[in-house]
Amino acid sequence: MTASSFRVDEAVWRGLLALRRGETPQRDHGQDPAWTLYEPIARRDGRSFVVAQVGQSLDGRVATVDGDAIPISGADGFAHLHRLRALADAVIVGAGCVVADDPRLTVREVEGPSPVRVVIDPSGRVPPGAKCLSGEGGAILVRAEGGTPVDEPTSLCLPRDGDGRLCPRALLAALARRSLRTILVEGGAATIRHFLQAGLVDRLHVTVAPIVIGSGAPGLLLDPISRLSEALRPQCRVMPLGSDTLFDCAFDRVSTDPPARLAIGSVPDAGGIW
Ligand SMILES: NC(=O)c1ccc[n+]([C@@H]2O[C@H](COP(=O)([O-])OP(=O)(O)OC[C@H]3O[C@@H](n4cnc5c(N)ncnc54)[C@H](OP(=O)(O)O)[C@@H]3O)[C@@H](O)[C@H]2O)c1
Repeated sequence: MTASSFRVDEAVWRGLLALRRGETPQRDHGQDPAWTLYEPIARRDGRSFVVAQVGQSLDGRVATVDGDAIPISGADGFAHLHRLRALADAVIVGAGCVVADDPRLTVREVEGPSPVRVVIDPSGRVPPGAKCLSGEGGAILVRAEGGTPVDEPTSLCLPRDGDGRLCPRALLAALARRSLRTILVEGGAATIRHFLQAGLVDRLHVTVAPIVIGSGAPGLLLDPISRLSEALRPQCRVMPLGSDTLFDCAFDRVSTDPPARLAIGSVPDAGGIW
């Protein structure tokens, strides 16, 4: 793998925002690295597309044992996250992340619209004053059916499965009915896990900041495996973002429920940035 510099010039970003609006970009950006990275997310072809993102330390942590999480990513990793938000219709987070960090989940570091915030909060532990529930883009609270009755115009109720989980596939279908098809799953680890294990992630973006924490919350967490042959090995390209390093990992979406396997997708050739 080799590393090369990465920048998003204004014309590329304008083209990506045009694509996100369903328009044809004025220029062909060919194999520009930023274009090949973001084009699959900006594209609107009626399909649902899920990108999960983790910003972690060299040792795979996203917070200290006391929950200090901000900022792990450097300035360029943070800008990358805001680009993903700007290109997504909706950003999904779990209740744990909102209770721990009270994030806004809006777009502030780049030009572009803020996504609808979708908070999976089956037991209603997210405080009504959480920052992500107000502001540009709007918010949807995802509750468990049969729980405490809620009188919130912005809530969505889903049934729990045998393990008590709300089915991520049903959530994506419900969001698609609201024309929210390009989805950023921003964390934390418990929330990403459900989407990854259900085979519902098209791209996983892991940005690694050069910091070692040594303990604390992990960025990714899956069910235990005993053999490395069972590990996920997505096709992956590595892009230096500047302050951080991005691993862009491709999976093929699995249509069976539960997934028979997690398939590995492909990332496009991007002119020597592998
Ligand atoms: N650096 C990053 O990229 C990043 C991003 C986000 C978060 N974080 C860090 O991650 C930590 C929080 O992560 P976390 O894994 O503890 O929590 P989380 O994934 O944010 O939230 C987990 C909770 O969300 C609900 N939930 C999510 N998906 C569900 C599903 N399919 N079915 C039912 N309930 C579901 C459950 O709530 P109930 O428990 O109420 O049932 C679950 O316990 C924090 O330390 C935060 O700083 C880091």
